[in-house]
Amino acid sequence: MFNQKAILTIEEENYELPVFHAELGPDVLDITQLYKKSGRFTFDPGFTSTASCKSAITYIDGDSGTLLYRGYPIDQLAEQGDFLEICFLLLYGNLPSKEQKTSFKDQLTYYKMLHDPITKLFSGFRKDAHPMAVMLGVVSALSAFYHDSTDVKDPNQRIIASLRMISKMPTIAAMTYKHSLGKPFVSPRNDLDYASNFLHMCFTEPNEDYEINPILARAMDRILILHADHEQNASTSTVRMAGSSGANPFACIAAGIACLWGPAHGGANEASLNMLYEIGTPDRIPEFIKRAKDKNDSFRLMGFGHRVYKNYDPRAKIMRKTTHQVLEVIGNRNDPILNIAVELEKIALEDDYFKERGLYPNIDFYSGITLKALGFSTKMFTVLFSLARTVGWIAQWKEMIEDPKQRIGRPRQLYTGKKQRDYIPIEKRDNK
Ligand code: SDX
Repeated sequence: MFNQKAILTIEEENYELPVFHAELGPDVLDITQLYKKSGRFTFDPGFTSTASCKSAITYIDGDSGTLLYRGYPIDQLAEQGDFLEICFLLLYGNLPSKEQKTSFKDQLTYYKMLHDPITKLFSGFRKDAHPMAVMLGVVSALSAFYHDSTDVKDPNQRIIASLRMISKMPTIAAMTYKHSLGKPFVSPRNDLDYASNFLHMCFTEPNEDYEINPILARAMDRILILHADHEQNASTSTVRMAGSSGANPFACIAAGIACLWGPAHGGANEASLNMLYEIGTPDRIPEFIKRAKDKNDSFRLMGFGHRVYKNYDPRAKIMRKTTHQVLEVIGNRNDPILNIAVELEKIALEDDYFKERGLYPNIDFYSGITLKALGFSTKMFTVLFSLARTVGWIAQWKEMIEDPKQRIGRPRQLYTGKKQRDYIPIEKRDNK
């Protein structure tokens, strides 16, 4: 039995803090009783040193560049697995047997379609609306249609909501893409795998079938696997926080989409490609490296750095390999944008500023180039990230709801405002 304790001494008063042992990674100090015993909060605004929950889903080690989904290394899953079985793994904890995989595929097939009134929601958005705004609106609206799977206390409804989210997201994402092009929607097909079906819904035209290239479909499937989950990142923490109040799962996923949109998080793939276009030619790279290091310039190298990885993001390595495979297939192995990315990575990794701060390419550095090569517009990139991350969000939400000790999340603060003061009638105020 592991019963280590830490002692915190404040003004000669000792406070015992139980230490919980981790299966992998850092142990944690249990401070749940600290305020009650000491009258003090802890302070960690960016949660750099704070574990917000217990979880058995994903483990990352930033120093060694390790990423495990339910214990399986991401490189093995990306190379040998497919997104369907990774969805099952994240949701239920183990890789599916053949029978379980077939049954899971049939369940997801059943939930692929959208109610017709939902498809009409798209027409309420301008064609040039940012696709993330459209996806956010449509996913939020799912709560208005699926009342039979919004009771979070009902295990059966939780599973149905989870399957609906995983299954409908490709359809919503593809419709979002078609809407942005002003083109008609394409219905899902039951005979295609998850990634192929998504490419079919995005790229089939009324007058021309989309011929699915197996290498590109495999690349899409791998991109979905790489983005599926990532421990307690900002958007997952948002989903957990929203879910902690008992909000329905569709609303919680919408909250996660809103958070992922930011350029410091999932919006970095769009920002990273835009940055590469802004650089334009390799000879301008030093100018941008200089700006990234200038404290008076808010510019940062998009697709570089990570709160946890202070080594190479293991997903970026696999993404870089996938980028080369896709460019090879589409016959653009010498894409000038890729050449700038490779040169920028080389220069940055040799620069002390980046090495000292453990700033390496993250998953967003190469994903933009790959998604552009697959045919997607830049504004669609974070929609694709949301599509992939939905299974991670819903698995983390389900784990939280099923925790018997689950409580509403309610952080405290370090108050720095005015001390109590009396009201001043307006005629006596002298605010200049
Ligand atoms: C994702 O959390 C996850 O798991 C997220 C994610 C997932 O799968 O869910 O992995 C997906 O969001 C990947 C990250 C995508 N974002 C970007 O690529 C945007 C560019 N990156 C940075 O904004 C930044 O690196 C963050 C937001 C990713 C991390 O920020 P931190 O951990 O708060 O780091 P920091 O701001 O404290 O920076 C530490 C130092 C600072 O310099 P000093 O004050 O020490 O001198 O590094 C510098 C920063 O100025 N720095 C950068 C930089 N990132 C950090 N300098 C230049 N370019 C950068 N990209």
